[in-house]
Amino acid sequence: MKNIVITGGAGFIGSHVVRLFVNKYPEYNIINLDKLTYAGNLANLKDIEDKPNYKFVKMDICDFEAFYQLMQDEKVDGIIHLAAESHVDRSIKDPFTFARTNVMGTLSLLQAAKLYWESLPEKYEGKRFYHISTDEVYGALEMTHPEGIEPPFTTTASSSEHHLAYGTEFFYETTKYNPHSPYSAAKASSDHFVRAYHDTYGMPTIVTNCSNNYGPYQFPEKLIPLFINNIRHRKPLPVYGKGENVRDWLYVEDHARAIDMIFHNGKIAETYNIGGFNEWKNIDLIKVMIKTVDRLLGNPEGSSEELITYVTDRAGHDLRYAIDSTKLQKELGWEPSLQFEEGIEKTVRWYLDNQEWMDNITSGEYEKYYDDMYRMNK
Ligand code: NAD
Ligand code: TYD
Repeated sequence: MKNIVITGGAGFIGSHVVRLFVNKYPEYNIINLDKLTYAGNLANLKDIEDKPNYKFVKMDICDFEAFYQLMQDEKVDGIIHLAAESHVDRSIKDPFTFARTNVMGTLSLLQAAKLYWESLPEKYEGKRFYHISTDEVYGALEMTHPEGIEPPFTTTASSSEHHLAYGTEFFYETTKYNPHSPYSAAKASSDHFVRAYHDTYGMPTIVTNCSNNYGPYQFPEKLIPLFINNIRHRKPLPVYGKGENVRDWLYVEDHARAIDMIFHNGKIAETYNIGGFNEWKNIDLIKVMIKTVDRLLGNPEGSSEELITYVTDRAGHDLRYAIDSTKLQKELGWEPSLQFEEGIEKTVRWYLDNQEWMDNITSGEYEKYYDDMYRMNK
């Protein structure tokens, strides 16, 4: 493979994937295809934008004609598809946009790739359509152990002192889809289309389902960057419900490394779950974040806990996500590289050191979106 399109490359995870591929594979042509919605930001890629093996194309993934033309012009061999509407709270307010981009956009890419690849003498030989999805398609798990238990898995470098599981069930690759939010319903639908293109037309597809990511360049409507920024500005921290919901957190660069491994060595038509066995109750995670930000800003440690404000719960708020990534660890030898406490420290430092990046988003052009989200949280 030589000519690779990465969709959504100006977003949070996509920018880390683009950076990794551009730096690691000078022999590939990397085409970052992104519509630049509110969540797309080319400032995320400043350090690699002048590299000779990198190109940015502004395009809506729903534009079938334009993408079909691009497949031909660039002789695309591989697609790593991350472009999506990604925020659950927005999907509750505006589900149509999620169906359009996540479902119709994915279908449009699949059909254009099919037409182009089937027109070649080698057909699907050496081609790959890799779709990035989420653990949220599996629905929500029970919290059978509210205080947490030692998880049955001990393989992970991301396990920290905390290292707790809040139930005995996990999401496996075989877990039945059961999405609850418009976001996860749209992602689930797109996953089904990708698998259908393999089963019906023989397209070489792969799907991965990853847990919550955190790290640099995440849009500050999501929990971690929103709260770091609010602590810095002494603004309230809107905790949904009682803060008891559990998420399974993975450092974004570990996700990007998994994507690299799976794109090159994953088996066609397989699904891989990606996660670091790193479950946290929101309120516990928020307290770790507060401590870290306070320490790095020179505030008395924990003093920003007074900013915690419990607000109305998110509608249909999934209780617990927990990924079992044993298959990926065993088959491809992937392991998360960071312990969670290190990852959070690195992340908080990055946001505090890159205040200009944050300020550009939370002021001016972007302010409208940011304020809408904030008001909605109240
Ligand atoms: P993000 O919202 O930060 O970025 C999405 C990117 O897609 C943006 O650059 C945006 O401009 C682009 N985009 C949106 N609509 C588009 C369209 N119609 N045409 C072209 N580009 C469009 O999202 P993210 O958090 O980086 O997530 C990337 C992918 O990973 C998504 O598919 C998401 O479902 C999946 N995922 C995310 C997480 C997470 O924790 N963030 C976890 C698992 C899976
Ligand atoms: P989020 O970052 O939106 O990711 P997702 O909904 O995809 O898991 O939220 C992570 C968790 O934090 C989720 O349980 C909702 C909660 N949350 C809050 O309590 N307050 C907030 O302001 C936000 C954005 C999220």
